[in-house]
Amino acid sequence: MCGIVGAISQRPVRPILLEALRRLEYRGYDSSGLVTIQNGSFQWDKRPGKIRVLEDHLKGKNWNGHIGLGHTRWATHGPPTRDNAHPHFSCDEKIALVHNGIIENYESLKENLIRRGHQFRSETDTEIIAHLIEEHAKKNKPFVAVQKAIKELEGSFALGVMFRDHPDLLIGARLNSPLVVGIGRNENFIASDVPALLPFTKKVIYLNENEMVQLQRDRVTVSDLNGRVKRRPPTTITWDITSAEKEGYPHFMLKEIFEQPRAVKTTTGYYVNRKKSCTEFAALKPVLKKLNKINRVIITACGTAWHAGLVGKYALEELTRLPVDVAIASEFRYGNPVLNKNTLVLAISQSGETADTLAAVRQANEHGALTLAICNVVGSSITREAKATIYTYAGPEISVASTKAYTSQLTLILLLAIYLGRARKTITKQSETKMIREFLTLPKKIEAVLKTDQLIDKCAAQYRDAPNFMYIGRRYNFPNAYEGALKLKEISYTHAEGYGAGEMKHGPLALVDNTFPTVAIAVQSSVHEKMVSNIQEIKARSGIIIAITTEGDKAIDHLADCIITVPETSEMFSPILTVIPLQLLAYHMAVKKGCPIDQPRNLAKSVTVE
Ligand code: F6R
Repeated sequence: MCGIVGAISQRPVRPILLEALRRLEYRGYDSSGLVTIQNGSFQWDKRPGKIRVLEDHLKGKNWNGHIGLGHTRWATHGPPTRDNAHPHFSCDEKIALVHNGIIENYESLKENLIRRGHQFRSETDTEIIAHLIEEHAKKNKPFVAVQKAIKELEGSFALGVMFRDHPDLLIGARLNSPLVVGIGRNENFIASDVPALLPFTKKVIYLNENEMVQLQRDRVTVSDLNGRVKRRPPTTITWDITSAEKEGYPHFMLKEIFEQPRAVKTTTGYYVNRKKSCTEFAALKPVLKKLNKINRVIITACGTAWHAGLVGKYALEELTRLPVDVAIASEFRYGNPVLNKNTLVLAISQSGETADTLAAVRQANEHGALTLAICNVVGSSITREAKATIYTYAGPEISVASTKAYTSQLTLILLLAIYLGRARKTITKQSETKMIREFLTLPKKIEAVLKTDQLIDKCAAQYRDAPNFMYIGRRYNFPNAYEGALKLKEISYTHAEGYGAGEMKHGPLALVDNTFPTVAIAVQSSVHEKMVSNIQEIKARSGIIIAITTEGDKAIDHLADCIITVPETSEMFSPILTVIPLQLLAYHMAVKKGCPIDQPRNLAKSVTVE
């Protein structure tokens, strides 16, 4: 997804902008660009490809401007070409602009602008904004011109704008796409996300929807779209820049896989009272009355977060006896779901910016449902829309493929199920205590699973050339069949499918022969015997079996070509352990195939468009 950075400083901003852009690379992009103002004119360059391509072209150029904007583009309107990359400019080349998001009414606005004589250099929706501001700037000062232009735009976007003749002013705006302001000493910044700001400052202001900001070197003014100034004290970021760096790992994905003991432990620590062995959710206090009245739950999310929701359904139904549906957010938002004030809509999102999940929350709010977010990014859009938020504490997740956010989401939804079970008296205090005690052992057990890394590497070497994989599981581990297949697809570009193991004989079994690997999640559980039968069916057709089993369980030894074990835990908590070998398998397959790992082709970390 596109990334915006901007800086106004007493020092040259070019290195600042490049450094900040690099820290937004995780969002996914296909071109980058940069503009500064020096001696009354714009200095700019933009290039398709990685930031280093842009840097190569900047070598030898002596730009010392003290104000500038940078951008990484993830193509939506028009292919990733130099013309379509940002910044974009007005006809008179007095206005430079970078943009994240989508302008829905750009075609009609463009027609009008063309009628008024404007000439366009790109196929983007973004460029119309520069021309629109130019129109308004004929009669207005810069800030008002931007304000008036924004009011004509429909869609979701964040903007950074500079005026060639006003090198002391940088303008930002947020309408449904993230924008954070960084407060420095005699320098200020804007960026799409906090990691871009961390090398320069830890003091930030998260802009709210429909807010604008004017940055000068020594002043930051936040206002609404009508220019009414708002007092917004900065927040101090508590996590360190090293959390956003690789710390010696070859890829962020591997680092994040290995951070899971800590992520699960930290998330658990926030919601578990160790002394009393019980769950505590202080963040739910404001909505407690409504929560006590719910008679139904709908979980909505996308991708990996949706898989966490599928596990959540089993746990919530088992522990609370509430009926639970799980809806992909892009389906939920265009469906006609039955919602009322007694429905709890639980939205799960790592980024908190996923456009479909955000829209689903808004729709649920409109229908009077109680909305609750499970989110990893503080202050993100979904957390602002939901009536309450409980956070996962995974730390920043940089790799596009979600790993530690997933296990943290599982942690939180399982703890929430226990909490609601107690609140509704569908489980006893004793069972809560027993579950919490077991839960607290999980970080150590994850560490044990991570020790199977080398074995998994060997397994990946053996099957790296297989073009297709099947993943199967049942009950609590059925969603992990989806998740394992998704991980493999997205980072190793190997086709994979996830199936409920019981479905194999209803069609997919036809695929099985002696070249076709199936990853079977067959840990100790209420459906263990059923899983063994399903594995036997595959083996009878000479299929290759990679099995995830419980330590000490010998039942599958004679059937599997490769066995990876995880420590024993309850069936309900087992997905937190069984997903780890699946993540590592995908990782090692992708490394062996020479894939880019942290930024798979065609994908973005934060999907802020539909
Ligand atoms: C897969 C992955 C995606 C995200 C999905 C939702 O590894 O990361 O499937 O899970 O795009 O993103 P969030 O959780 O940010 O809403």
